[in-house]
Amino acid sequence: MFSANDFIPETYSASIDQGSFTWSAPSNIALVKYWGKKEHQIPANPSISFTLNHCKTITKMGFYKKENNGNFSFDLLFEGKPKEDFKPKIEKFLERIELYLPFLKDYHFTIDTQNTFPHSSGIASSASGMAALAMNFMSLEKVLQSEMTDDYCYQKASFLARLGSGSACRSVKGSVVVWGNHNNTKGSSDLFGVEFPNTIHDNFRNYQNTILLVDKGEKQVSSTVGHDLMHNHPFAERRFAQAHDNLDKLSIILQNGNLDEFIKIVESEALTLHAMMMTSMPYFILMKPNTLEIINAIWKFRNETKIPVCFTLDAGANVHVLYPKNDCKKVLQFIKDELVGYCQNGHYICDEIGFGAQLIIDN
Ligand code: DP6
Repeated sequence: MFSANDFIPETYSASIDQGSFTWSAPSNIALVKYWGKKEHQIPANPSISFTLNHCKTITKMGFYKKENNGNFSFDLLFEGKPKEDFKPKIEKFLERIELYLPFLKDYHFTIDTQNTFPHSSGIASSASGMAALAMNFMSLEKVLQSEMTDDYCYQKASFLARLGSGSACRSVKGSVVVWGNHNNTKGSSDLFGVEFPNTIHDNFRNYQNTILLVDKGEKQVSSTVGHDLMHNHPFAERRFAQAHDNLDKLSIILQNGNLDEFIKIVESEALTLHAMMMTSMPYFILMKPNTLEIINAIWKFRNETKIPVCFTLDAGANVHVLYPKNDCKKVLQFIKDELVGYCQNGHYICDEIGFGAQLIIDN
């Protein structure tokens, strides 16, 4: 069993004065949802997600050695321009991870980040952003301590990313990632994401995720506030138990390729997430009328064609349409003919299962 203390380094064997790295990290979409957390970013229940391939954050991190004056020192750029409003979130992240990366105050960092998806798309970039930043920090730590294995670096990056944003720990490595202690998932941990340990059925190879942008505005409720609403929620305990059961079932489905059963779990999870928000105090409806129009159209299309297409939702109005690669042509035609009209400005993003973070430049 890992404890957080295992990620505190003892000493560093090397030093570096300046340099830069660039990492990309993808977004991910949960199939069993993380909703509710304990202190220190520990999830109230285990979750599992598909890693995306095209929706990514690319972060270049430059650094040079400075006097350690007890402060963090960094510039934050978004698409090359200063982004002051992101700074408090990064400052908080640095405070949380300093214990595990004791060199942070020895350097000045320039963090220059960009997303491959439009910023006003309602797609949260915190998962991909925190994962990309965590990988950059691990690249630097690896220079200071060259004996660290790549596996350890990824695991620690996931651990660090979690402290920035819970779901970010599922954006580091692997196509299907489990986060949170789960009896039947070997190696699973509350502290970091792990790759789903069993062989995934071919039915899920290159699984498609088309994101229908129903509402590109700011989220009505931040995820962090949403998680808090699970404290004292009347259905919380039952929900957490259900997530364990659903992960049990989904683990089997991912191995046997039963798409009908996959659909049942995934859609039920999405609606349960929204049901939790509707039944919290205060309560929220995050779906828009067009979200429901899309869900109904997907159900009708599925009934008529028997194509195993389904939906899932984040804590917002956008709809993630999930379907096998083989059905791509027919489903995309359906989306163009019947669903585009429900998307804001007709916008949607085609994505599919990916692999995790990638080192782009190492200087
Ligand atoms: C609905 O990871 O964004 O997308 O830990 O507070 O940063 P924080 O929350 P976050 O929550 C994601 C919630 C979700 C479900 C999921 O991704 O599992």
